This record gives sequence, structure tokens and C-alpha cells, in this order.
Amino acid sequence: MSVSQLAREIRESATLRLNEAARLLKERGEPVIHLGAGEPKSKVPFDAVLSSSVKLRSADIRYTPTEGIPSLIQAIIRYTEENYNKVIGPENVIVSSGAKQALYNLMMTIINPQDEVIILAPHWVSYPEIVKMVYGIPVIVRAEDGRFQPRMKDITQAVSSYTKAIIINSPNNPSGAVYSEDFIAEIVEFCEKKDIYLIMDDIYQKLVFDGKVAVPCYKYAKDNSDSSKLIVINGVSKMYAMTGFRIGWTIANRKIITAMINVAAQNTSCPSIVSQAAATGALNGVQSSVESLRLTLENNRNIMVNELKSFSGVKIIPPEGTFYCLPDFRAYRMNSNELSHFLLEKALVVTVPGSEFGLEGYLRLSYCGSVKDITEGIARIKWALDPDSPNEIYIGDRKLRRDWK
Ligand SMILES: Cc1ncc(COP(=O)(O)O)c(C=O)c1O
Repeated sequence: MSVSQLAREIRESATLRLNEAARLLKERGEPVIHLGAGEPKSKVPFDAVLSSSVKLRSADIRYTPTEGIPSLIQAIIRYTEENYNKVIGPENVIVSSGAKQALYNLMMTIINPQDEVIILAPHWVSYPEIVKMVYGIPVIVRAEDGRFQPRMKDITQAVSSYTKAIIINSPNNPSGAVYSEDFIAEIVEFCEKKDIYLIMDDIYQKLVFDGKVAVPCYKYAKDNSDSSKLIVINGVSKMYAMTGFRIGWTIANRKIITAMINVAAQNTSCPSIVSQAAATGALNGVQSSVESLRLTLENNRNIMVNELKSFSGVKIIPPEGTFYCLPDFRAYRMNSNELSHFLLEKALVVTVPGSEFGLEGYLRLSYCGSVKDITEGIARIKWALDPDSPNEIYIGDRKLRRDWK
């Protein structure tokens, strides 16, 4: 049996692979700690549950307009006004099955074969693969060593006549960095000048710490016409802990949205109406769960950063948002894939190798789990790596011995 050349070139999702490895270990009764997760553990907002269960109980579950139900589109328009200070109309919105599908359908809509898309490292694992899936070419621009926000100078140097778009993700997965206001202002201006699409993946927009805010890109847009190439992706997955509902959206000019509707109409037809009802409920309902999640994550961030600071060899830039941090483990091992496997095998802790995000020698650690998992997970990592640690450790009632250097 042969699969297509394209399918052969698409990489397996590292996070899903690690989830599976952890699940198998857990099934065998192993006390695995998961610091690789990409979703908050808090409950879905009550308004989302209520709204979707009312829809479900109606037993009237049908296709919806491809772009989404009008009430959800209205809720997204209001969200955009409140959070971006930007007035848009229904013709500027399409709802999709998660922000991931929004990105994929957008790429299908704007990318021709061989078009280049600039991605800033460290970057979310899916960006290069999504670009490849539409026969585009991902061009990775790295930050200077020890930094997470690439320099404008390096980005402008990477731009060629083939560059179609730049993707910005701030707050950033995997680093937790929030790009500076100056940087956002500069990149918006640059893309307008060069007539390049600027895609803002704002899925972590609400999860920012220390009183900061993620700067809304529209603040610096000069082109507010219907041909603006500024595109915003967002969704309910992270801010409302609604990953399982699979609802995201795209804000763009009318022409892009019309083309995206055609693309979506030929693949999924529309997102599930039950999920759309849930997202409408979340966006129109009481917003306290978002702030409560943000506060929990800020507290977890502080705990994780403090624990990591006790390692002599780990360098860490404290994350300013999301629920990830990306410490530098190069003092222990350069190959992050090997290190991640070693930690799973010896300390039963799941981490995600930095190489998956375009930053070798780092590990992505999530702090969206419990405080106990964070402190115990980091203690186990320290035990496995720090030569000054005691030779033995108890995990539950099991005694583990260091039999390596
Ligand atoms: C940066 C980024 N964008 C998009 C997504 C996808 O979000 P969704 O679950 O809504 O598809 C994720 C999920 O991990 C992400 O980290």
C-alpha cells in the first residue's frame, strides 16, 4: 500500500505521540506525571454546557451555514469589539472546527504551491506541517540565542519575492513569551508596506500574566479598508478550556472569508451545531471562568519557575502568558528528544522536546496541571539530571535508583 508523497512528508504530532506513550504507561499502572499537556484542566463554563445541552435536547441537530450560526458570529463580532477595539461585520467572520482548522483553511485559501510562509521560532508544531500540506514552503526565523522574540532585522532578511504571509503567535506556544508592543507595531507596519498577509494566532490572548495584555494588532493597522491583509485567528479552546468542542474562528477581509467559506463547504460543511451552541454560550455568558483560569495559571507559572530556578544547569525566561514554559536544558544534554525520552523512562515525567518547536536543547513544560504534579514532576526531573541529587527516590511506594551518571 502506498500513501501520497505529501502524506509521507507530514510529521507525526509529537505531543499526540507523547500523550499516547504516557497513556500506555498509565494503563500499566505507572505513576506518570504529564508535563506535556496542551489543555487546561478546568471545567467548561456552565453557560457553554447549558447552551449546548439545550440544543442537544431539542433533538434538532442539523447542518448550519458553513460560516457558522448567526448567534455565534454575533458573539464573535462583540468579542472582537471588546478585545480588539475593532468593528467588524458578519462578512468578516468564519467559524471553524478549532483554530487549527481555521489556520488550515486559511492556508488553503491564500497559499499557492511554492509560496513561502515565515514562521517565528520557537513555534507551534503544526505551523510548518500545515504550510506543507498546502504545498507551501515554511521559512523558519529564529530568535537570537537565549531569546524568544526574533529580531525584526532577521525577519525582514527572510522575506523574499515568494513570501506570502508571516504567522505571529503571541502569547506564544511553546515559550509563553508575549511579544512587545513595539514589535507588533513594527511587524504590522512592515506587512502593510510589503503587502504580505500577517496572520495573528491569538488563541492564548486572554491567558497573560503580571497585569500585561497581548497588544491587539489592529491598534497599529493603517489599512482599515476591505483589502487589509491582517488576519486574526482565535477560538474557545484555551481561554474557556473547551478544547473538546473544537470551535475556532477567523477574522479577515470579505474576499478571504468568502473564499474560506467555499473551502470549508467542500471539506467539513460546517462545525458541529452542538459545539457552536456551546461556544455561543461561553462567549455570551459569565466571563469569570476565564479570569479564574488565568489566575490559576499565573500561580502555577510562579511555582514552576521557582522550582526550575533551583536547578544549577537550567536557564529560564519566565513565561508571560499561556501555560507553557521553555527552559534551556543544554547544560545537561543537547539533544532534547533524547532528554525527553530519558526523563520519561527514568523519572516517568512527560515533557516535549524543544526540537519539535524549532529550538534544540530546550524542553517544553506545561503548568496547566495540578500544583502537586508541577512540584513533583520538577523534583523528579531534578533527581534524574542533577548529579548532586540523592541516589534513590520514592515514587509512590516504588524506590528508584540512579544507575546512570
Ligand atoms: C498556537 C496554537 N494555535 C492553535 C492551536 C489550536 O487550537 P484549537 O484546539 O482551537 O484547534 C493551538 C493548540 O494547541 C496552539 O497552541
